[in-house]
Amino acid sequence: MLLISLDAPGVPLHRQLYQGLRERILDGRLRPGERLPSTRTLANQLSVGRNTVLEAFEMLLAEGYLDARTGSGTYVTSSLPDAEPDRPPGASRLTERLAPPLRLSAWAKRALEGPLPESAPPSGGRPMTLLRNGLLPPAPFPWAAWERLARQRLAHPDPRLYQYGEPTGLLELRQAIADYVSRARGVRAEADQVMVTSGSQGVLDLVSRVLLDPGDIVALEDPSYLGARRAFAASGARLAGVAVDEHGLDPDRLPPRARLAYLTPSHQFPTGAVLPVGRRLAVLDWAARVGAWVLEDDYDSEFRYGGRPLAALQGLAPERVIYCGTFSKALYPGFRLGFLVAPRELVATLREVRYVIDRQPPSLEQLILTDLLREGHFERHLRRMRLVYAEKRAALLAALRQDLPTWRWRDSGAGLHVYVCLPEGCVESAVVARAARVGVGLYGASQYYLEPRCAPPSLVLGYAHLETGAIRAAVRRVAGRP
Ligand SMILES: Cc1ncc(COP(=O)(O)O)c(C=O)c1O
Repeated sequence: MLLISLDAPGVPLHRQLYQGLRERILDGRLRPGERLPSTRTLANQLSVGRNTVLEAFEMLLAEGYLDARTGSGTYVTSSLPDAEPDRPPGASRLTERLAPPLRLSAWAKRALEGPLPESAPPSGGRPMTLLRNGLLPPAPFPWAAWERLARQRLAHPDPRLYQYGEPTGLLELRQAIADYVSRARGVRAEADQVMVTSGSQGVLDLVSRVLLDPGDIVALEDPSYLGARRAFAASGARLAGVAVDEHGLDPDRLPPRARLAYLTPSHQFPTGAVLPVGRRLAVLDWAARVGAWVLEDDYDSEFRYGGRPLAALQGLAPERVIYCGTFSKALYPGFRLGFLVAPRELVATLREVRYVIDRQPPSLEQLILTDLLREGHFERHLRRMRLVYAEKRAALLAALRQDLPTWRWRDSGAGLHVYVCLPEGCVESAVVARAARVGVGLYGASQYYLEPRCAPPSLVLGYAHLETGAIRAAVRRVAGRP
């Protein structure tokens, strides 16, 4: 008697029977060579129609689990290895197939270490206004232009759309990126030095794999971006934190040895400091002295609301600095395209290693993005967004000034977040928990320090995705005002 439950809602009976029999064959409850009941008997036993059993048998015969011997019946195929008699209970052949013993690589173990950005504290089911960095509003992204460009590209498909392509990305997109970063950021770039990647994270991962061995030292700002830290740590690199003050990384504290230095000179993450030119030159002098590469993360440089921006560090030493850009802030993070500009010496190596990792960036997005850049939509979008974000930022700062006058912040006049230093004596986690109770998600900044326990109580407030009214209301609630 075969007991197979056939009560999965929405799954046809013959499919359930097929799965039940297959599972029993794989886990050894039906042994190789064993004869199955006739279709009529099985249909009676299970109270199903004979056609249901016939269909299930057909599928198992087609896949080679069963053999039909004319005149004598249907058998479990004898070419399956016999069930092991000493298999422990519960360890069926099926489960063994699904879950081999988990033994992680050394790289994976290192990649799993360390913090991920904290999520909002529990709100007890109440709606929360999240003052979270990294969220962007859906409008006014140029969706209409995007749709038109996508239609055009799909109406006359370029063969490169459906074939393997260049690991560094489409030439015309690399050219458009090189033109843009040369013009807007003073980066010295030609198309053959540009590689289109899967966001900044793609750059951080690739550069770590190419340049870092376990034990190598990476000098990085402390506090710094967790995505970068995790990528370096996964390579087994030792992280040498360099203190940051109101002018960014202090070059006098750079370590005596390092293979790579990672920094965000245009808008230090998370403090917002802009690295002055004297410090930039000192960092480059240090790098030349110790023989280190410099990885410049220019993640949100598109958004400066006043004053003249400093050009990228890369422009001062293009043979030493790897420049990393992203469309995650200028367009949206789910877009997952970014780029690097590599010193010539690294170009060929990065290209070949990129092939091993994920072969190339997706072609359709690249084609549409090329058109977006070439037709001027991208820079028009940036001009519009600068006004939108400047207004939101002003609303946040005005609300903080009015409702939380003891909080201090650094107005870098740039980026999409504000770094706040809480008054002395404040406990960061208590401020976050109190805000959650009034429906506001705040994010502590101590997580970005290498030693969070020694970090000053501080917050990173993201405002880009919120309307000005919601920003003001959230600050009022945090301040305990109605
Ligand atoms: C310092 C820094 N770099 C890069 C990024 C963006 O990374 P990605 O391009 O992988 O989305 C962020 C996002 O917040 C960031 O803070």
